[in-house]
Amino acid sequence: MPKLLKLRRPGERPTIKLWSAASSTGAEAYTMAMVMADIAERINGLNYEILGTDISTEVLVQAKLAIYPKDMIAPVPPSMRDRYVMFGSASSRQGEVRIVPELRRKVRFARLNLMDERYPFDCEMDVIFVRNVLIYFDKPTQEAVAGRLASHLRPGGFLIFGHSESVIGSSLPLRQCAPAVFQRV
Ligand SMILES: C[S@@+](CC[C@H](N)C(=O)[O-])C[C@H]1O[C@@H](n2cnc3c(N)ncnc32)[C@H](O)[C@@H]1O
Repeated sequence: MPKLLKLRRPGERPTIKLWSAASSTGAEAYTMAMVMADIAERINGLNYEILGTDISTEVLVQAKLAIYPKDMIAPVPPSMRDRYVMFGSASSRQGEVRIVPELRRKVRFARLNLMDERYPFDCEMDVIFVRNVLIYFDKPTQEAVAGRLASHLRPGGFLIFGHSESVIGSSLPLRQCAPAVFQRV
């Protein structure tokens, strides 16, 4: 985040834009929202927006609802759970949790097939996560998708793959900065 904020012009009110491409039911997008909400508390005036996309309308319905089995939030630190997760009180909802409305408002979900030639979204993303989906595509498609996603990053923005998916071709304007983490040059 400090690296991204340094790229902003002085006086610019920073809005950090994050994208979970292949978001599935939204766990990744809401995790980003929790982390960003914590950071925004510490950095005066910091705003953030999160986009989640997936090819499946079924998972997107779940993502918008933001209701998860209790077990799924086990890895969320207790301090974040207290602030960002609501526990079901009705007996039918006892095994479930829901993300708080303040975070739900920060996350927008839309349908997108990563195979499409064009992605009708913002080209000024700061961080794009595309994890555990490229493994299903052949090599040329992986390269093409990575290239299209990279073109939606601001210079200096980050593209993050799953750990088994560091498939990037050297032709892309990206520099590797950690395993599975690339920065647009
Ligand atoms: C294994 S899940 C990964 C979810 C999440 N990124 C993660 O790492 O936990 C793969 C997701 O990719 C989505 N998907 C598969 N093919 C896709 C495509 N062509 N375009 C967009 N999403 C796709 C599936 O619907 C599924 O939700």
